[in-house]
Amino acid sequence: MVNASQRLPSNGRLSGKIYRLLTVLVNKSRGETHNRLSCPLIHFENVGLRYGMGPEILRDLTFDIPKKSFQFLTGPSGAGKTSLLRLLFMSLQPTRGLIRMFGRDISEIPRPELPLLRRRVGIVFQDFRLLDHLTTYENVALPLRVRGKEESSYKTDVLELLKWVGLGERINVLPPVLSGGEKQRAAIARALMDRPEVLLADEPTGNVDPPMARRLLNLFLELNRLGTAVVIATHDLALMEQVEARRMILSGGHLDIYD
Ligand SMILES: Nc1ncnc2c1ncn2[C@@H]1O[C@H](COP(=O)(O)OP(=O)(O)O)[C@@H](O)[C@H]1O
Ligand SMILES: [Mg+2]
Repeated sequence: MVNASQRLPSNGRLSGKIYRLLTVLVNKSRGETHNRLSCPLIHFENVGLRYGMGPEILRDLTFDIPKKSFQFLTGPSGAGKTSLLRLLFMSLQPTRGLIRMFGRDISEIPRPELPLLRRRVGIVFQDFRLLDHLTTYENVALPLRVRGKEESSYKTDVLELLKWVGLGERINVLPPVLSGGEKQRAAIARALMDRPEVLLADEPTGNVDPPMARRLLNLFLELNRLGTAVVIATHDLALMEQVEARRMILSGGHLDIYD
């Protein structure tokens, strides 16, 4: 067991270059952080969610995601982990209750402003959502390209990050050629390029072998150590056993938290 604030002594050690890259990413995002220093990044109060006329699948969720925190979100299949991540990513509105993101009540935020706020949240979807007509490199670089950044300013960093996640040989292939595990790693690299203050990952180790799962966990821990809050939805007990971290457990629509 290691504490979430410590680095795992594993095979997935971060190289000096990647360490520098992540430090730069995190430091840049820090400058944009809202000025209400004491409030949590995310606050849920009596939040409920139902799809259409169906039953309420999330009930009375009240919790905070503090700055720089690290937590696993767990629970059986169908418990609502993905739905809760979608609420955290603001791609879904709750059917009741209050959600504050970075100090702001999201029900009062004009729709056109949501994408700006969403940039501060990185997400790794369970189904990857890579664009099939772009190469691995282009997929990972996309968040920077759409911000109008010059390729020369990020190319080395993207290549270094891809190398570290084990995709150094796959930079020029299209996603349909990648294995499930390779797609997962590309999706994680892309979410990190987005300089998030909070990183959400939906079953990020579902398609990789245990050594790679450990390596990915190490990367999440390192990011967290540098100041990014991390929420990992998983039902992988072996993964959770590697870190002594906060656990948010969903079952029967309710959430229990073990700090
Ligand atoms: N788009 C949707 N429309 C209707 N029901 C949904 C939708 N997405 C998920 N659900 C239902 O909500 C419940 C929680 O699903 P989900 O959030 O995917 O759980 P988990 O990620 O823990 O497996 C399930 O009963 C699922 O069938
Ligand atoms: Mg799910």
